[in-house]
Amino acid sequence: MVNQTAPSAGSGTAPGGGAAAGAAPAAHGRLWRLARATLGGNWEHDHTVPSRTLYPHQWSWDSAFIAIGWAHVRPERAWSELTSLFRAQWRDGRVPHIVFNPAVPGGAYFPGPGFWASETIEGTPPVATSGLVQPPVHALAAWCAYRRAPSERARAGLRRLYPRLVAQQRYLATHRDVGGGGLASIVHPWESGLDNSPAWDAPMSAVPADTAVLRAYRRRDTVHAAPAHRPTDLDYARYVAIVTAYRAGGYRDEALADRHPFVVECPLFNAARGAAERALARIAGEIGADPAPHRNRAARITEAVVTRLYDPASGTFHPRDLRAGRLTPARTVLGLTPLILPDLPARQVEAALVEAGSARFGLATRMARPLPSHDRTATDFEPLRYWRGPSWMNISWLVRHGLLAHGQDRLAAGLRASMIELAGTAGCHEYFHPDTGAGLGSPAFSWTAALLLDVLAD
Ligand code: SER
Repeated sequence: MVNQTAPSAGSGTAPGGGAAAGAAPAAHGRLWRLARATLGGNWEHDHTVPSRTLYPHQWSWDSAFIAIGWAHVRPERAWSELTSLFRAQWRDGRVPHIVFNPAVPGGAYFPGPGFWASETIEGTPPVATSGLVQPPVHALAAWCAYRRAPSERARAGLRRLYPRLVAQQRYLATHRDVGGGGLASIVHPWESGLDNSPAWDAPMSAVPADTAVLRAYRRRDTVHAAPAHRPTDLDYARYVAIVTAYRAGGYRDEALADRHPFVVECPLFNAARGAAERALARIAGEIGADPAPHRNRAARITEAVVTRLYDPASGTFHPRDLRAGRLTPARTVLGLTPLILPDLPARQVEAALVEAGSARFGLATRMARPLPSHDRTATDFEPLRYWRGPSWMNISWLVRHGLLAHGQDRLAAGLRASMIELAGTAGCHEYFHPDTGAGLGSPAFSWTAALLLDVLAD
């Protein structure tokens, strides 16, 4: 099952990728092989499952991160990964967060295709999908994949994807600008990618739900992972309630502010939109399209992220709960993610660096512990539970990308070393204990492997 194909010289191996594997210390060579084998083991004809057990279908932002990794070892798979995902794009431009593999038994994942019922909605693809989206990191991923392994074939991949990436951005900028201030709202915590982050505790506490609703369903995640490491049943009851409300409205986005139980502007989601416009400007330049509109949009998104999500009192970025009309109080790692905006003003860059270097997150040139997903000094910090404390490779990758964008090379090097050490000690786990570095969740997780390849190659 594990793909053993080694990248051969001149076969599209990323510049530096093969070299990194060969020239790096022996431990890096071992890690490179582990990461490549993990990705190979999760490959499924035209996409990569995040995990064979926990997530046996295709996930949207997973595929973006995974494509970055494939570009180093099998570049054609990077383009296949993104192409298969965007084949499931809805007519309104939304890229669904799950694309279901019809060959996988319906009960393998909850909530499965029957729960979402995407086939009942006009303008959906022939394949079953969810009705939610995830952070739009795909344009950035496509650009990274192209830069890692540029070729005529890769350029053709970019050309094919470009109009679809533009439609994805247009959907978010129009249908999802619920607050009217230039930011996209997420309508479910799953759309943030950080499902049970304390960032959502305030808006989630207002969502009416009863765990009795779960009697009608069967959670599959807690069969494959320890329940203490996963969201709670009350979280799941609310997740189900929010999807049920969105589905009842045909997944339409009109008047969400008045009728939907969860409407939030997320710093990471919107920073990803801004970074996507930057990447689209680069892609446009490469394929002969006009980069200027993308640059203008990127500047407007950055401005809106600062105006609407930066809190001068706390000195960090917070999600804005549109139903409550205020910023949510928790200080999570989401507050650091606007660093991926290269035109973030100096004042906010400085504030994000202070926050990152504080005892809350511990970013340093020599990091004592990995970057946590939540403020480690908070009373609700939970080192084992999913997004309430554990360290995640994709967030570290994004923060590192942001540090590099702002010339913070030494801090970026510290974060890179900590990422390599984590995987070097525990393997390609889904997430990691933020104090001990022990592996948690799925033991063979695709984006961990993919982003490990990327940082090893740097
Ligand atoms: N992250 C979700 C889960 O845990 C899926 O979107 O299933």
